[in-house]
Amino acid sequence: MTGGFSLLALPDFPWDRLVPYQDLARAHPGGIVDLSVGTPVDPVPPVAREALAAAADSPGYPLTYGTPRLREAAAGWLRRRHGVTIDPADVLPTIGSKELVAWLPTLLGVRPGERVVFPELAYPTYDVGARLAGAEPYATDGLLALGPERVPLVWVNSPSNPTGRVLPAEHLRKVVAWARERGAVVASDECYIELGWEEHPVSVLHPDVCEGSHENLLAVHSLSKRSNFAGYRAGFVTGDPRLVRRLLEVRKHAGMMMPAPVQAATAAVLDDDAHADEQRERYARRRAVLRPALERAGWRIEHSAAGLYLWATNGTGCWDQVRALAERGILVAPGEFYGDAGRDHVRVAITATDERVDAAVSRLQ
Ligand SMILES: Cc1ncc(COP(=O)(O)O)c(C=O)c1O
Repeated sequence: MTGGFSLLALPDFPWDRLVPYQDLARAHPGGIVDLSVGTPVDPVPPVAREALAAAADSPGYPLTYGTPRLREAAAGWLRRRHGVTIDPADVLPTIGSKELVAWLPTLLGVRPGERVVFPELAYPTYDVGARLAGAEPYATDGLLALGPERVPLVWVNSPSNPTGRVLPAEHLRKVVAWARERGAVVASDECYIELGWEEHPVSVLHPDVCEGSHENLLAVHSLSKRSNFAGYRAGFVTGDPRLVRRLLEVRKHAGMMMPAPVQAATAAVLDDDAHADEQRERYARRRAVLRPALERAGWRIEHSAAGLYLWATNGTGCWDQVRALAERGILVAPGEFYGDAGRDHVRVAITATDERVDAAVSRLQ
């Protein structure tokens, strides 16, 4: 207790533990190659900057619901690129997707003591979101282990961070059926959906998965990786109209609104595929050189069929692998950050510049 308030039990912010290895990698004569966090490094596309500048004079409050133009652009992108049909009225802008991931259990009214389910190896914010709502985080890949228990919310993430695994439509259909039987919401974090390499990711809202109904389903999207927008903070959520209306109501009260110039820029990038294809090509090239270089140096790559990461192991503990790579000036994330099941893996991001990726490749030789 501090001053009458009990502090929420949140996990340690894991990246702080990487600092000594960051120092080690920085000491390399050729400088650090940072493949740890996975932040975009390429330019924001001109189409976005122009739209942002054109909307710079935005003195009034933006709508939490977003502009009709933004909602139309999101629906158009889903239809064009992912074969998903939604009503633009069911799109809700978010300030990047991390805030929605962190607050979704709270916004949906998940109650203390209830269990929020997410994958065994996962982006840490699903766990944090459960805790912020006072709920129980529950990491599992086997829903059957829950038995007849009713849970309010199940997260899926395909392509996965950290493993790059893609869940086939058949698998997602089973999760949806399981959740619907229990009245659970399925929230599908689809922030890497445009980055399929060996496999083609499918949305939870695709007819092959949802069988014609979006009931109890939410898809969460991000522009951070597709459009180098991590600094703009832009995403959206869509799906079951009833749930989207509920989220809108709470978010209006809580002031969770995307700035108007960012709304304009987001609509512009959602309407444009050329820059996204170009960015995809950059990542494809980096992945094509990094993957064999890691393999030649003794790492085995698992999953990694999509997304921005190579999920790798050389059979030793993750911190030993972090050290071995940091000694070559290459910083990666220990698999343990994403769950105990990651203790023998490292996550290698493909988000450095071509020059830095080439430096990593030569150091791995
Ligand atoms: C699985 C997953 N979800 C959500 C996010 C949040 O992305 P943003 O807040 O930039 O949209 C990330 C970021 O890396 C992620 O890996």
